Amino acid sequence: MAVDNKLKEEQKTKTDFNKKATDDVLISFDEDPEVTGETVEVASKEEVKQMPVIMSIENLNKEYSKGKTVLKDVNFDIKKGELLSIIGPSGAGKSTLLRSINRMIEPTSGKIDFDNKNITKIKGKELRKMRTNIGMIFQHYNLVDRLSVFENVLHGTLGYKNSIQGIFSMYTESEKEEALDIITELGIQDHIYKRCDELSGGQKQRVGIARALVQKPKIILCDEPIASLDPSSSRIIMEHLRKICNEKGITVIVNLHQVDVAKNYSDRIIGLNSGEVVFNGHPNEINKEVIQKIYGTDFDDLIME
Ligand SMILES: Nc1ncnc2c1ncn2[C@@H]1O[C@H](COP(=O)(O)OP(=O)(O)OP(=O)(O)O)[C@@H](O)[C@H]1O
Ligand SMILES: [Mg+2]
Repeated sequence: MAVDNKLKEEQKTKTDFNKKATDDVLISFDEDPEVTGETVEVASKEEVKQMPVIMSIENLNKEYSKGKTVLKDVNFDIKKGELLSIIGPSGAGKSTLLRSINRMIEPTSGKIDFDNKNITKIKGKELRKMRTNIGMIFQHYNLVDRLSVFENVLHGTLGYKNSIQGIFSMYTESEKEEALDIITELGIQDHIYKRCDELSGGQKQRVGIARALVQKPKIILCDEPIASLDPSSSRIIMEHLRKICNEKGITVIVNLHQVDVAKNYSDRIIGLNSGEVVFNGHPNEINKEVIQKIYGTDFDDLIME
């Protein structure tokens, strides 16, 4: 299947964080004098509890091949407007879980309810409509390099168009105005007519966020959005994602390798180990025992005091 091949390709090009030193996994923005300062507004455990549920994942299992279970009986709710991070070692199943949420990967069994509707088996038009409600941001941006920032962002509206409108890139004035507003919110308005291959990684990722936002999604899925960025660009991206939750009420789900970043920016953290949810709680609850449960003994010294 095309999606599976693409995922395999990504696996090959991905940085293997498990082979890196602990310090690389534990990026701390505080160590960079240019990126300290603003306090991040995250919800308390009580506030998260009171948020309405937007998606429920029940008994989700995924086997890519018979007998090799990658997700094992995964159960959790996703709240409307929360920033939820998924952490875990390489191969834990983070990307598989994220891609199951918008059905880019078909779960082997289990159920996903989105907005009180079972989306596990929907097909065709209904599936396409559901996907317009879920934006996606990737580690390697997935932009069309030879097209401008503006055109890439406008691509986010394609899910709403018929194929003729799509082929001829027919955008309405209001779509263009909206795209421009979002590009400005993300601070990349000076680059609007530049080709995307002329941008830095951090700028490309902001184009990725803008493209997801013009889709007017209820949920944005981010698969390692900062894994290819330096600490300063990473902070900018995380701040934009945080703002999207706080100001637009959009749910943001982020796969992350950096435990510190997850702790700083999330309302809630899910820890995956070998396809199982071994932690589901508030960032304050992350301690030595939790880290050991998620990462195993190799990460004994991966502790934030
Ligand atoms: N298309 C596929 N076909 C077969 N096995 C796969 C496929 N995609 C992933 N896997 C396997 O499923 C397991 C989970 O992979 P996944 O990419 O979800 O992990 P991850 O937590 O996102 O890892 P990373 O941190 O390296 O991105 C791994 O053992 C991986 O080799
Ligand atoms: Mg992954």
